[in-house]
Amino acid sequence: MSRASFILTTATVLGAALALGSSGCRGGTSEDPPVHLTPDMDWQAHRLAQSHSPIFSDHRAMRPVDKNAVAHGFTEEERAKNLKEDSSFFHGLNRSGQPVARMPIAVDAALLARGQERYGIFCAPCHDATGSGKGIVEQRSGGAFAGIPPYTLDRLKAAPDGELFQTITNGKGRMPGYASQIPERDRWAIVSWMRVLQTSQGGQVDMLTDEEKRKLKPADQAGGAK
Ligand code: HEC
Repeated sequence: MSRASFILTTATVLGAALALGSSGCRGGTSEDPPVHLTPDMDWQAHRLAQSHSPIFSDHRAMRPVDKNAVAHGFTEEERAKNLKEDSSFFHGLNRSGQPVARMPIAVDAALLARGQERYGIFCAPCHDATGSGKGIVEQRSGGAFAGIPPYTLDRLKAAPDGELFQTITNGKGRMPGYASQIPERDRWAIVSWMRVLQTSQGGQVDMLTDEEKRKLKPADQAGGAK
């Protein structure tokens, strides 16, 4: 083989290999990661949210906000809302951590209507529309939810508003908490509706006006409203 034809053959073979190699990439699949010329911070060491870290003494990878951190960039109103600073509204607790006796927002017809509607969605399945504790879930749970207390128990009538709010927020015993599904204002609306259920079922004829008494059926007047 002459020197010239050797060079020509070598060049042809190399050219063919290069053409094959580059065309092979087109549309083909590969297990290897793509070539990443500028990695930036894509592969820096990091911890996933909610995961474990051996570095800190409490082993939480997510660091709690320092209690002296100052929130900025909010209006006064946004700040109060985002930081949930108003303990009685957001937690139903006063500054010393005790349940507030009275709900911190004004009760009007609109709030009661909202409470009735939300109660029907979130609570009535277990507690029944009247609060008797005999909702459809209780009836069909095969005993798992047996013994849900009626709201008319003296203990629950005497409970501070903040305690009922806390029960909705965190749940109690077998009852799950509803903090993630029911915003604070709606929780208060539901508390106001629970008070309606308690009061209406403990009513006495004497509490009615003369006008209202006239509307009662004779049986109610004889036996007293329940
Ligand atoms: C999945 C069923 C279920 C739902 C839904 C439910 N509850 Fe309950 N609730 C229970 C059970 C069960 C108990 C009894 C708790 C126990 O002692 O195990 C209870 C107890 C209570 C009590 C009495 C707590 C005490 O101090 O004894 C209150 C008040 C109450 N629920 C309010 C509500 C309100 C308001 C809602 C709607 C936001 C609601 N519940 C939704 C199952 C439910």
